[in-house]
Amino acid sequence: MSFWNSLTKPFFVLAPLADVTDPAFRRVIAKYGKPDAMFTEFVSADGLVLAPEEGRKKLLADLQYSEIERPIVAQFFTSRPEIMERVAALAMELGFDGIDINMGCPDKSIEKQKAGAALIKDPERAKEVIKAAVRGAGGLPISVKTRIGYNKDELDSWLPHLLDTDLTAITLHARTRKEMSSVPAHWDAVGRAVLLRDTLNPKTLILGNGDVSGLEDARTKAKQTGVDGIMLGRAIFGNPWLFSETIPSVPEKLTVMVEHTKLFEELLPHKSFAIMKKHYKAYVNGFPGAAELRAELMEAPSASAVEALVHSFLH
Ligand SMILES: Cc1cc2nc3c(=O)[nH]c(=O)nc-3n(C[C@H](O)[C@H](O)[C@H](O)COP(=O)(O)O)c2cc1C
Repeated sequence: MSFWNSLTKPFFVLAPLADVTDPAFRRVIAKYGKPDAMFTEFVSADGLVLAPEEGRKKLLADLQYSEIERPIVAQFFTSRPEIMERVAALAMELGFDGIDINMGCPDKSIEKQKAGAALIKDPERAKEVIKAAVRGAGGLPISVKTRIGYNKDELDSWLPHLLDTDLTAITLHARTRKEMSSVPAHWDAVGRAVLLRDTLNPKTLILGNGDVSGLEDARTKAKQTGVDGIMLGRAIFGNPWLFSETIPSVPEKLTVMVEHTKLFEELLPHKSFAIMKKHYKAYVNGFPGAAELRAELMEAPSASAVEALVHSFLH
């Protein structure tokens, strides 16, 4: 039985957020507020198979995880079934608990490869990619994360295609591709997805996603829509305690921010330190002296510099 089916409903999972929920931040989240499941950032399946050694190494670094993150799902994007089959086998070898296929990303460079949200426009190809993942995965559960449509709400035609496969779970980001993230998520569509699932393929789990602010909001939305699970994304910014519902003191928060920074430097030395700056904006907020500390952190070039700034702020 897959881990998905052993979770108590409604379950609450961490969304994949590229350059945010990287291996360093996930390790911090697992320690201070563990969700029921975690996803890696999306990783280019084509790159993993076809890129030269150096590029492949970087992509593999995005797939590193620690045991405390389990259950952990690897997310990939591709439009090529033969590539999907190979990376599904790789994910199994790497010990992942599940494999997710991205069918919702609006990024132009990804859509140019006919992957991400572009697959909503090509359901036959989408199904071939899913079948290939099932073939390669050696029994690992396969899930898809997608949107409710491309230019408009097409749930009634798009979702049945997905429900016609052996997917264990489907996450719906309740917006169309065209809407990007610019309008409030359409949670009524998530309720409709649950009804479609009940009729067409009751075994498939449905997760709702979009604008969920915390677990209380997640519980309310789960009750209203009948979904099996809720995925939370941006609410994790600056708040690795999100899934534990504890509120840290300022010193605790800043100490964990330093821990996060050190892990980033240790685990992801090939990534730009600038990635940490958006975390600082979120961590350092809403307490006396935050604006000044934030301004100093924006200039900090390394974990040791960040640690020194936090030390002098707290002492
Ligand atoms: C910075 C950022 C990076 C994202 N990266 C991914 C990704 O790698 N894979 C994916 O499926 N969705 C990605 N998304 C979409 C989120 O997973 C999620 O669907 C969206 O943010 C809505 O949920 P939220 O309102 O809880 O954040 C990303 C979103 C943001 C803001």
